[in-house]
Formats: sequence, structure tokens, C-alpha cells
Amino acid sequence: MTDGRPGVVVRALTPDDVPALVAMEVELFGAGAWSAAMLAEEVVGPGRWYVGAQDTASGALVGYAGLWFDGFDVQVMTIGTARDRQGQGVGRLLLGALLDRARTLGAAVALLEVRVDNDPALHLYESVGFERFGLRRGYYQPENADAWTMRLELRRHEGEAR
Ligand SMILES: CC(C)(COP(=O)(O)OP(=O)(O)OC[C@H]1O[C@@H](n2cnc3c(N)ncnc32)[C@H](O)[C@@H]1OP(=O)(O)O)[C@@H](O)C(=O)NCCC(=O)NCCS
Repeated sequence: MTDGRPGVVVRALTPDDVPALVAMEVELFGAGAWSAAMLAEEVVGPGRWYVGAQDTASGALVGYAGLWFDGFDVQVMTIGTARDRQGQGVGRLLLGALLDRARTLGAAVALLEVRVDNDPALHLYESVGFERFGLRRGYYQPENADAWTMRLELRRHEGEAR
């Protein structure tokens, strides 16, 4: 789908990818990891669009991301890069793919939640224009960690009103 500079291609995810997604979820999110059943539902769920970053050399999945389009706005459902491939541009590539898709869908706004102490993700989101607009206390369980809610106006530069 996309020839990425960090040695990956971005492609659509399928149910066959769920085992690899589970492994990355556990590595990245620990106790908060989505289960195989949740991931299997998400990948094919209504309004969902999930992509993975596949290493061009090994064929292994090294990142994944997904959105939900409700007909008006998109919600970034998740994004993750395998630990040994972080800091190489994979996350930026995946987020860019989600936002391109959101614009193609005609979404007005992209929304997401992020743990208040997740500096890498906050930097990534803010670097593409997301702004914090609220705080959800105890959003992440079982850790009971707070989340920032963030939004990005996708039509701002086109001068369109919602
Ligand atoms: C957030 C995450 C997806 C970023 O993926 P990545 O592939 O490492 O990101 P990239 O290499 O594309 O870096 C993109 C930007 O993220 C930020 N970033 C990445 N690693 C960072 C770090 N350790 N500290 C601070 N900022 C960092 C930088 O702004 C970077 O921009 P730059 O290219 O100008 O340096 C990755 O850290 C991750 O998987 N974290 C665990 C899962 C997670 O928390 N997901 C988000 C849930 S809301």
C-alpha cells in the first residue's frame, strides 16, 4: 500500500494477523492489552480501518494502528510499534496513514485518548497537530491512569465549518 522509509510497507490487517497483534499488545500495553477476541473483532469491525507496518526484509509485523469512523469523526483506536523498532519512523508512518484515510473518508475531526504520562505518543500526536482538550480520570484500567483527550481538525485548512 505504502512504501515507507523505515523499511516497512503499510498494509491492511486481516484476522490472520491477530496472533502477531496479540504479541505486540502484550509487549506494549501489559495488563491493559486487548485480548485476541477483542483484536479479532476490531480488525473487521464496522467502520474500522486497521493497518500494519510489515518489515520489508523479514515480513514480520512491526507496528499496527486502527481507526473507527462513525460517519462524522474518526477515533484513533490504537497505535503501536514493536519496542525494537521504535524511534525509526514507523509510528509516524502509521499515524499518517490513518489521517490520510480519515481525510479520504471526509471526517471532520480526529479524536483520541492518550495516557498523561505517555510522552512518546504525546509528542507524536502534537507534532501532527493534535491538541489536548480534556482529561479523563481513571480512563485506563486496571492501572487507573488518567488520559488526555486530543483532537485534530481535519478540515481546518479548507475553511469548512462543521
Ligand atoms: C507512540 C509510538 C507508537 C511511537 O511509535 P514510533 O515508531 O516509536 O514513533 P516514530 O519513530 O515514528 O516517532 C514519531 C515521533 O514520536 C515521538 N517519539 C518517539 N519516541 C519518543 C520518545 N522515546 N520520547 C519522546 N518522543 C518520542 C517523537 O515526536 C517522534 O518524532 P521525531 O520523528 O520528530 O523524532 C510508540 O512509542 C509505541 O508503540 N508506544 C507504546 C504503545 C503506545 O503507547 N501507543 C499509543 C497509545 S495512545
